[in-house]
Amino acid sequence: MNIITLPEVDSTNTYLRSTLPDAPHGTVVSAVSQTAGRGQRGNSWEASPGLNLTFSILLRPLGVSALQQYAISEAVAVAMVETLRAILPMPERVAIKWPNDIYYEDKKISGILIENSLIGTTIERSVVGIGLNVNQEEFHSDAPNPVSMARIAGRQFNLDPLLHEIVTRILARVDLISDDRGKEEVSRLYHDMLWRRHGYHPYRLPDGTRFQAAIQGVAPTGHLTLLHTDGTLSTHAFKEVFSIL
Ligand code: BTN
Repeated sequence: MNIITLPEVDSTNTYLRSTLPDAPHGTVVSAVSQTAGRGQRGNSWEASPGLNLTFSILLRPLGVSALQQYAISEAVAVAMVETLRAILPMPERVAIKWPNDIYYEDKKISGILIENSLIGTTIERSVVGIGLNVNQEEFHSDAPNPVSMARIAGRQFNLDPLLHEIVTRILARVDLISDDRGKEEVSRLYHDMLWRRHGYHPYRLPDGTRFQAAIQGVAPTGHLTLLHTDGTLSTHAFKEVFSIL
């Protein structure tokens, strides 16, 4: 396994993209400390130095076109859930909050930031950045609901074996999506692992409108379809609808 560990870097995603753009499939950059860890929607990612996993994997996925890029997100999220379910108590509490946050019950344990470089309809490379809260017990940023493995399990975890396990599972799941059957299998696993996948739950639109809806499905494009209490359906891209906790 090709893992580069840096004591300090601004962001492992930025480093892989700007310093190692030609690295081979499977190259991992892991940081003890990130000075400018990036999250989704322009947010920052909080992680106390040395206590958590903050790393990025460079992927050159075969058999995944630009239109199918959401399959990468599904494969990575499934691999994260599989890893955490094998370690944490009450594993069924680990779930994927659409599109790819990893939750333990109603709290976020891991975030994923995927940055794809496309050439025409081909994915030239995909930089998959993962922050996993491992041994940190206190969180100070304004992230609404963080939790860590240590908080859940009441013990500390060794970071290196955990990183190996996650990378192994991610590479296996990314291998699988190289053909249609594998994509369908990973997508089925992803749907089965979705947080709040049963029953009606509260949602909010960017304009503040609130409503109850049930998850109908996630399309191969990544769009979320919701079933409303009056029987109508609505479809949303990322950032177009939010779960209310
Ligand atoms: C999110 O907002 O949920 C995504 C968080 C992703 C954080 C990880 S930490 C390693 C990698 N480098 C970054 O700058 N961000 C990702």
